[in-house]
Amino acid sequence: MRKRVIQIGKKTGYVHGKVQMMRIKVNKSGRPARMRRVAAVPAAVLAAAVFVSGCGGTSPQRGDGSVRIGVSLYDQYDTFISELMASFNGYVDNRKSEGVDIATIVQDASKSQPAQNEDVAEMIENGCNVLCVNLVDRTAPTEIIDTARKNDIPVIFFNRELVEEDLMQWDKLYYVGADAFQSGTLQGEMATEYFKEHPEEDRNGDGSIQYVVLEGEAGHQDAIIRTEYSVDTMISNGILLDKVGYAIANWNRAQARSKMEQLIDGNGSGIELVLANNDDMALGAIDAYQGRGIPTEEWPAIFGIDGTDTGLEAVIAGTMTGTIYNDKDGQARAMEALAYALASGSSLDNLQLPDGVAMQDNKYIRLPYEKVDMEKAKDYLSK
Ligand code: GAL
Repeated sequence: MRKRVIQIGKKTGYVHGKVQMMRIKVNKSGRPARMRRVAAVPAAVLAAAVFVSGCGGTSPQRGDGSVRIGVSLYDQYDTFISELMASFNGYVDNRKSEGVDIATIVQDASKSQPAQNEDVAEMIENGCNVLCVNLVDRTAPTEIIDTARKNDIPVIFFNRELVEEDLMQWDKLYYVGADAFQSGTLQGEMATEYFKEHPEEDRNGDGSIQYVVLEGEAGHQDAIIRTEYSVDTMISNGILLDKVGYAIANWNRAQARSKMEQLIDGNGSGIELVLANNDDMALGAIDAYQGRGIPTEEWPAIFGIDGTDTGLEAVIAGTMTGTIYNDKDGQARAMEALAYALASGSSLDNLQLPDGVAMQDNKYIRLPYEKVDMEKAKDYLSK
């Protein structure tokens, strides 16, 4: 039985500049259904008209040129993802200002794969003609792929990379992201350069660098590969390493702070290097040193990955030693260009991708990473 739709008289968000009244589904008991998962990403488009009239607007006729993009996020509170979405919305707005009939709906899966599967089915039912999916569980895309395939709706997976066999299940599946190996290698190179330039940072003079790793989610390709490649690159460049601690902090600043406090308490001033899988966790490490009242001269070198706005500010302030730029803007631009081409039926040969980037195997678009020191951080922040 189809759910009823009610409208509540509250301003909730924006669909391309217009304040919308939120319409929510109610189930048989009359209770609102899953309203909390509509994403509140800054400037994101909320699930307003979508539930009554299609994906972010009037139900499109297949092939009428209208573009209705359904975006499903694994977690709207992830800093990198919310910055990527802010760029994505900017590209959608640009296209709209060129007169294209384009609209977006964004749903937050709140880290639940079953919820994400349901959202995808609902977005298709509501008229989306292309989907962008930031998988919750990158090993479990099958239900989404089956639903999309049954309805002939192309899917662009982004940021959380599914295994190649899954991406090959259908020709209308794509991936936009970056090369995790490269981020780990560049972080390892940056840390190597730092210790070669600053031998005095081997504070206890024992010839090895005592280090800890703050790792993102267990099982996430970026977390596993970044850690391995960062450490291996340092070792193969002649730096002796001595691992004194390790913690999983799920990409999260607050979790990283508390894990880092424990590592500081367990190791005293013995930590000479923190390798964090992302900027938010590097910022959590900085918070921990600040919170413990340790003078900055006694801090270890702290490296992140992402180049989020706050991460770049920390590099400029000198509290974060360096980061690796994860090109959120390039990924957003590529994803929007691909979504537009797929939904409007234009050729994929003329996609407007960032300079030097091309689609590989008709499936993958990967944006390069870049090392960011204090000088580069200023350039990126002023862009
Ligand atoms: C990574 C990014 C992390 C986090 C994660 C979520 O690429 O560096 O900060 O956003 O994706 O999947």
